[in-house]
This record gives sequence, structure tokens and C-alpha cells, in this order.
Amino acid sequence: MYALEINGLGKVYKNGNRALDDVSLTVPQGSFYALLGPNGAGKSTLINMIADIVRPTSGSVRMFGHDLFSERAWCKKRLGVVPQEIAFDPFFTPIEVLRFTSGLFGCKPDDSWIEELLTRLELFEHRGKGTRQLSGGMRRRLLVAQALVHRPELVILDEPTAGVDVELRRRLWGFMREQSSKGTTILLTTHYLDEAEELCDHVAIIDRGRVLTARPMRELLQDIAASDLWLNYGRAIVLTDADRIALAAFEPRESAEGVCLKLGRAAGGESTFHVAYQAAVARFGPPVDAGVKSEDLEDIFLRLTTKDREIQS
Ligand SMILES: Nc1ncnc2c1ncn2[C@@H]1O[C@H](COP(=O)(O)OP(=O)(O)O)[C@@H](O)[C@H]1O
Ligand SMILES: [Mg+2]
Repeated sequence: MYALEINGLGKVYKNGNRALDDVSLTVPQGSFYALLGPNGAGKSTLINMIADIVRPTSGSVRMFGHDLFSERAWCKKRLGVVPQEIAFDPFFTPIEVLRFTSGLFGCKPDDSWIEELLTRLELFEHRGKGTRQLSGGMRRRLLVAQALVHRPELVILDEPTAGVDVELRRRLWGFMREQSSKGTTILLTTHYLDEAEELCDHVAIIDRGRVLTARPMRELLQDIAASDLWLNYGRAIVLTDADRIALAAFEPRESAEGVCLKLGRAAGGESTFHVAYQAAVARFGPPVDAGVKSEDLEDIFLRLTTKDREIQS
């Protein structure tokens, strides 16, 4: 069962901007899903379509098996969205915002849940202030509380931690992780790729309105990540033409301390490791030291998104 089945979504804005081009993704129920992409990739457009703020030009979305566009009311009750843009009525206080939002979803305000949300999101002492008096970080946390107030089964957060300091970010993620362990499906966008790598079990990388990759996080890190074999000779190695030809399969690079060879895929790279190591030994003798460094999420993200730019231009 999928929390979201996104099929062939496209969006062309009135001014001709093609923000999404045939996007298909599945978000498994219960997953903690990272939707990543550079600025302008189309993340907010996608989220705003699910939130009913932007109309798609083409495609369909099913939420827990129900059609998002024809069964809006059913879907809305099960969805909480934290938008990227912050907008509150300045005269409302946090507690009023939360009680009012409960009403919008047709629920009687659950005061103990509202109190827990205010406490966990560190807004409790600010619950009676006008939202105008709240800092940017507090307003963003209020958006998170607002998205959770009707206990939705699917929560979508569009850059919820922009402008939130490290310590608070950690606590916010801890809270979201708890919601996730209770079975809530969470989809988020963030620019903090190390946090996404740590938190999320699924990841999609989009750029220029297209999906570059979408898969379980572990699979991305194991199968898509490239690795480098660093051979330390304690001195600079100058590669001759003969070295470059002999090692061409490993795209050799000189470094201050020796040489670096590309191992390609990390998974099943065992044999490549030995082959590359032996090839280096045959050219330069045994190294003082050797080690493998695999790409992390940020490395993969940069490689995929810059490659995409090169193909386009
Ligand atoms: N209301 C709009 N009208 C026209 N173009 C838009 C509008 N909103 C976004 N875009 C364009 O659509 C593309 C995707 O934007 P967006 O979805 O905000 O990306 P992201 O959230 O990944 O940064 C960008 O080129 C952006 O300029
Ligand atoms: Mg955005």
C-alpha cells in the first residue's frame, strides 16, 4: 500500500514555466521520504499540488489508494502539509491557530494533543502571543504543529528547518522520527543532506522538473554511490601516458600523497577493489597505505544534479 502514487505529473505555469515534467513516484506507507533537489527543481510545485494549492497540468495522484483530485475531502483529512511560505493571521495566537485548524478539519480540538504539540515544538510559553510577535523559527514550528493537529496519516514538510538552529532542528527531527515510528508517513524536502541521509529511509532526487532517481536510501548509498580507492605512497605520483592507459578503467587521478582510482559501484565492488589495487601495485609498487571512500548522499546529489545540467546545456 502506498501513501502516495504519483503518476506522470506535469505542471506548466501560466507564464510558460515547465515546473514538473512527467513526474512519477511512489511513497510507501510508513516511510520517511526525502524529496531532494536544487532550488527551482519543482519540489514546492509538487507539494503544493498535493496540498491543493497548485493545479496540475497533467497526471494523477492516489493517496492511500484514493484519487487525490476526485476524493479531495477524504484525502484532506489524512494529510498535513507544512508549506515553505509562512503566512498566519497576525492577530491569532498559537493556541488559537491550532484550535481553529482542528475545526477546519471537522475535529473537536483535542486540547491534550494541542498542549503536547506546543510543548514538543517549544511553543508552549509563547502560546498566548500574537503570531506577529513570534520569531521566524517559532512561526515555522507553529506551521509544523498546525500540520499535525488533526493527526494526519501523511505529513509533508517543505523545508521545515530553513532558518531553524542546529539544536532545535535536532529536536524537531527527533519529534518527527517519533511520529514516523507510530506509523505516520513523512515526506520532506530539505537542503540539509546529511540530516536527510540520517533520517530518511527513501529518497528521490529531482531536478528541472524530472526525477533523476527514486529508491530506498540504503539502495542509493550502496548501488549508486561510487567509491574512490586512495593509494598513499607518501609522495606525489606523476602519471605517465603509459600509467593512464594501463589504469584507464579506473580514471586515475594524481594526489599529493599518491594516486586515486575510481571503483565505480560500492556494492559488489569487492573484486574491483582487488583488481584496482593490483593494477596500482603493478605500476607503482605496494603503497604505504590504502583506503576506500564512498560517496555520501551529498556527493551523489551533486554528481547527479550537475551531470543533469551538463546534459541540458
Ligand atoms: N507561481 C509560479 N509561476 C511561475 N513559475 C513558477 C511559480 N512557482 C514556481 N515557479 C517556477 O517553477 C519552477 C519550480 O519551482 P519550485 O517548485 O518552487 O521549486 P523548488 O521548490 O524545488 O525550489 C521554478 O523554475 C520556478 O521559478
Ligand atoms: Mg521550494
